[in-house]
Amino acid sequence: MARKARAAICRELNQPVVVEEISVEPPKRGEVTVRLAACGVCHSDLSATNGTLALPLPLVLGHEAAGEVVEVGEGVSTLKAGDPVVSSFIYMCGQCRFCAAGRPVLCIDQGKALATLPDGTVRTRDARGQPLNVFSGCGVMAEYATMHVDNLVKIDPDVPLDRAALVGCAVTTGVGAVFNTAKVAPGATVAVFGCGGVGLNVIQGARIAGAARIIAIDTLEEKLALAREFGATDALRYQDDPTKALKKMTGGGPDYAFECVGSGELAAAAYRAIRRGGLAVVVGVAKPGDSTAVRTMTLPFEEKTLTGSYFGSCVPRIDFPRMLGLYRAGKLKLDELITRRYGIDEAPQAFADLQSGRNARGVIVFR
Ligand SMILES: NC(=O)c1ccc[n+]([C@@H]2O[C@H](COP(=O)([O-])OP(=O)(O)OC[C@H]3O[C@@H](n4cnc5c(N)ncnc54)[C@H](O)[C@@H]3O)[C@@H](O)[C@H]2O)c1
Ligand SMILES: [Zn+2]
Ligand SMILES: [Zn+2]
Repeated sequence: MARKARAAICRELNQPVVVEEISVEPPKRGEVTVRLAACGVCHSDLSATNGTLALPLPLVLGHEAAGEVVEVGEGVSTLKAGDPVVSSFIYMCGQCRFCAAGRPVLCIDQGKALATLPDGTVRTRDARGQPLNVFSGCGVMAEYATMHVDNLVKIDPDVPLDRAALVGCAVTTGVGAVFNTAKVAPGATVAVFGCGGVGLNVIQGARIAGAARIIAIDTLEEKLALAREFGATDALRYQDDPTKALKKMTGGGPDYAFECVGSGELAAAAYRAIRRGGLAVVVGVAKPGDSTAVRTMTLPFEEKTLTGSYFGSCVPRIDFPRMLGLYRAGKLKLDELITRRYGIDEAPQAFADLQSGRNARGVIVFR
């Protein structure tokens, strides 16, 4: 039987999200229904509401959540009712050369479940019975969600689910960009552009990796104060191009720079700032028409690298437990990441607060 659930939905671009009662159908073969406990509000959800991420509407938002399995479909043997799980927003076929090589974020079928489940259909309908798309096979900003089993990772029951939810995007994206994509070395100098949910996790990832100097850059003073709490050693208020300031502060440029805002111009600034042989990593997701220009000559003469990082280049079943292990060991801050908790009916406020930069992370809690 379908379950009723209140859910945050984008129906119209550039309009506030709406909260509606939807119906969530039971799991089909290979699928699982989850009762969500908490869902973080990520900038990528906001990007789906303003066209930066062009996903088909109407769309149930949410891709950073944790909850409890309530029902499993035929053929699901790895999860059972009662299991605590964290959502994962990547599709992995398990067969292509990238999946085989342990790089599922690059799965050639990644586009298969961008707004539906992997079979191209959805289990979500509105009050009039019309189908609702789901953000990246998830749509977990809702009391219930039915998802493919590969979009869920079972976790140990000891971590509170509101904190575990953050591992479903911000933490794994940020810390993973440092550990997996850049492989930041101890003693390194790191610059981080943008200190929101993702950037703060790049900062704490760099701290855990043993970076000697971590320079946080943001337009908001409050974010710079937070950045220091998460391990930044220096803070730079973004006014105009910080390249010169960064070069001066570090005697030639940081070893690594991470762009965690979503701007072609900032990606270029990150690249300009790094030292010879340095690595600039673009984590932010810019508008489709945005581009990044670099001085071509610097590529051969300075051997600089500009790359990107999707979901922290993670393997969810390896990296989610790894992040929770770091939390348990007292090395990774999750409690401090949650600035404010909202009920599902307050979802429009949570998005407004994200837009105005009020939170490290805002989290919708369901019970
Ligand atoms: N690569 C991935 O897999 C992945 C995953 C999740 C999110 N993202 C993207 O990462 C970006 C950040 O997400 P978030 O949830 O942390 O967003 P957020 O809104 O919480 O944080 C963005 C931060 O950037 C700051 N900022 C804005 N303009 C700036 C500027 N010119 N210079 C310096 N800082 C500036 C804001 O004040 C804010 O603190 C978004 O583009 C999001 O879509 C990417
Ligand atoms: Zn996200
Ligand atoms: Zn694949």
